[in-house]
Amino acid sequence: MNSSSAQRRIEGFPWPFDPDERTFRYSVNVADAKVPRQTATGSWGANIIDIDDDYLAIVQARDNVLRADPGRCAVLPHMLPATWDLMLTLMRELVDGYPEVMHLDEVGTDGWRWRNDLLGIDRTFVFGDLATLPEGPLEFIGRQVPDDLLLVSEREGQLWLDAGLVTFANAWSVKFDVGMNFHEIHGPVPRLTGEGTTKRAQRFMMMMTGDRMFRRVNWTFSSIGSRRMDASLETYDRWGWEKTRIVNDEDWGRVQLRVELEHFIRLPLTGALVFNIRTYMLSLAEIATVPEWADQLADIVEELPADIGTYKGFADWGTDAMRWLRAQSHTDAAAPAVAG
Ligand code: HEM
Repeated sequence: MNSSSAQRRIEGFPWPFDPDERTFRYSVNVADAKVPRQTATGSWGANIIDIDDDYLAIVQARDNVLRADPGRCAVLPHMLPATWDLMLTLMRELVDGYPEVMHLDEVGTDGWRWRNDLLGIDRTFVFGDLATLPEGPLEFIGRQVPDDLLLVSEREGQLWLDAGLVTFANAWSVKFDVGMNFHEIHGPVPRLTGEGTTKRAQRFMMMMTGDRMFRRVNWTFSSIGSRRMDASLETYDRWGWEKTRIVNDEDWGRVQLRVELEHFIRLPLTGALVFNIRTYMLSLAEIATVPEWADQLADIVEELPADIGTYKGFADWGTDAMRWLRAQSHTDAAAPAVAG
């Protein structure tokens, strides 16, 4: 990666905290989507789908995972209509955000022509006719967006995760979670259900109408010392050892703050809910170059209750990493700028 794209990644990073926030607790932290948000380095959030410098690398990473493990795309049979609905909705979002490279045109009475110039895709399809796509609609569109896609339906007064294409889960498994309800999925998260947040979050989602889209951010640290996206339970054997190595070597600069920008959409035709997750990562070495971010993150991590730190996976090393972060950011700030 050249230095300008590394810089753009910092400028577009969805910093997950408000400027004055010094403590963190779980909440139903939802806000309107597509409203650009300023940060200390730039801004984020103008589009539902963010096509940035990492787009091609992420599409390739997703392809690698799906080739090795096609089961990361799981659709319960009753969700097929919602997958078509999702595909068309995301195509429209892509055209809306990137009209110079994404194109959707109606062809005849029920046909469509979809072109994604970035991936060289030019496909004419009939809505609802599987024979006109190379794979199911969820996989077809999922291979063209950087986000993990979850489809949620409502029955018996609750929400159910009934379909998903998830190649970049952070220490969970889409195969395990598909078919589970909202309370079951959030059961492992400390305080969430006990303090009523799960119930309020579910109520919020059920009340959503099709005319407003929402978003929230979630943050944690990756257990992997690189921007490798697939930290799913399915591949635990390939990355599970990394945290021990980082801690033993005190290699704090490589620790990645992992931020999920999540969007919520009520689909127009089927009424199913979409929950899409775009993962961004920034290393502590990069965060150290932005002193206000470094200080704020250190304050928040140091204050966090032990049960949340344990769930997020850094209870035993977070304080050491934050000590390094504060010291490094002050060293960076004091260093003379390098010419050229
Ligand atoms: C306003 C809505 C929502 C809120 C407030 C919320 C909140 C949370 C929180 C706080 C976590 C823990 C994350 C962490 O600390 O790193 C979490 C995890 C998770 N959420 Fe949600 N969530 C919402 C919607 C959804 C939806 C719609 C789905 C899909 C059905 C979902 C699926 C998950 C999954 C799969 C996890 C990982 C659980 C695990 O570690 O096993 N969430 N959520």
